[in-house]
Amino acid sequence: MRIISIVGARPQFIKLAPLSEKLSVNHEEFIVHTGQHYDYSLSGRIFSDIGLRNPDFHLGIGSGSHAFQTGEMMKVLEEVLISKNPRLVIIFGDTNSTLAGALAASKLNIPIVHVEAGLRSYNKAMPEEINRIVADHVSEYLFAPTHTAADILKGEGLGDRTYMTGDIMVDTITKNLPIALEKHSAPAGLDIANLEYNLLTLHRNYNVDNPNILTSILSQLDGLDEVIIFPVHPRTMKMLEGSGFRSKNLVLTEPLGYLDFIAVEHFSKRIITDSGGVQKEAYILKKPCITLRTETEWTETVREGWNLLVDPSDVSICEKIKSFVSPETQENVFGENVSETMAGIIDSFA
Ligand code: UD1
Ligand code: UDP
Repeated sequence: MRIISIVGARPQFIKLAPLSEKLSVNHEEFIVHTGQHYDYSLSGRIFSDIGLRNPDFHLGIGSGSHAFQTGEMMKVLEEVLISKNPRLVIIFGDTNSTLAGALAASKLNIPIVHVEAGLRSYNKAMPEEINRIVADHVSEYLFAPTHTAADILKGEGLGDRTYMTGDIMVDTITKNLPIALEKHSAPAGLDIANLEYNLLTLHRNYNVDNPNILTSILSQLDGLDEVIIFPVHPRTMKMLEGSGFRSKNLVLTEPLGYLDFIAVEHFSKRIITDSGGVQKEAYILKKPCITLRTETEWTETVREGWNLLVDPSDVSICEKIKSFVSPETQENVFGENVSETMAGIIDSFA
C-alpha cells in the first residue's frame, strides 16, 4: 500500500520512527514533515538521534497563530496528498500538524490512522484538546495507547473503529535507552551518572506564555534547593529572555537531543514536567513524576501513584514535590512491541 505519514513536531518524530521502520517491509511509505518544528534541536537532531530517515516532503511551514499555521499546512498537504494519492494517511498525537493532516486527508476521503487516539484532558484551554477531538472523529482507524483511551473512544461512539495497540513511545525508548546510556554526552558539562538532580521541562501554553506565571513556577522550584536540569523549549525561552529571571539551582540548557534527554531522565532522581511524552517516559523508566498541571490524559500513571498532579498556581509546589513518594511496583499500562502490533493491523488493510 502507498501510505503517507504526517509529522511536524518533536514528539511526532519520536512516535513515527519505530512504525516507519516496520511499515517499510510491506509498504511504500512517504514521510511528510510540515515544518512546525524547525530548530535543529527540535527536529534535525531528533531525526538523526533516532535514526529516522529524512522526510520525503518538507513543507517548511514554521510558526504562526493556530489558524494561520494550520491553514498553511492544509493547503500544501492537500497538494501532496492529491499528487501521491495514498491508500492511507497516518497522523500522530494532537498538534496542529495532526489537525491539518486530519482535515486535509478526510476532505479527500483518504482513510486515516490516528496514532495516540482517545486522549482527553477535558480542558479546551489546551489547543491540543481540540486537535485530538477533531482527529479522532474524522479518522477511520483509532490506535488507542491505553485502555482508558479505548474506553473514552467507545464512550464517544467510536468503539468500532478502535484498536487497543499500546503506546508506541515504549518502542522508541526501549530501542534507544541502551544506546543512550552508552553514547550520551554531558549536558551542561554535568556528570549525570554521578549526580543527584531533578529534571524539569515546561512548554504548555498556560504555564509558559505569561512570564509572571512562568517565573513564579521557576522561582518556587529554585527554592527546592536541589539541582534541576532544565532543557528549555524555545517557546519557554522566548518568555524567559528579558524576564530578568535568575536562579541558583536551575541548570538551563538548550533542548537536548533524544539520546541525551532519555539518559538525563534515566539518571534523574525525579522528573517535573508538563509534557505528555515526558510523563509517560517517567513512568516507563520508573521515576517519580510531578506534573505541573491540574489534569492529565495519562490518568493511569496518577492512579498507580507514579505521577502527582500539582496545580502550577499552588504556593506549596516544593513541599508537595518533597513529600511525594512513588510506589515499588507498577502495571504495564503502555504495552510492548507496539509498532509490530500497529504494523500488523495496517498490513491487514491491504
Ligand atoms: C507544539 C504542540 C504541542 C506539543 C509541542 C511539543 C501545537 C498546538 N502544539 O507546541 O502540542 O506538545 O509542540 O514540543 O501544535 N519555536 C521555535 N522553534 C521551533 C518551533 C517553535 O522557536 O522549531 C517557537 C516559536 O516562537 C513558536 C513557539 O515556539 O511560535 C511555539 O511553537 P508551536 O509549534 O506553535 O507550539 P509548541 O509550543 O512547540
Ligand atoms: N525530548 C527531547 N529533548 C528534550 C525534551 C524532550 O528529546 O529536551 C523528548 C522526550 O524524550 C519525549 C518528547 O521529547 O520523547 C516529548 O515531547 P514534548 O515534551 O516536546 O511534547 P509533548 O509530549 O508534551 O507533546
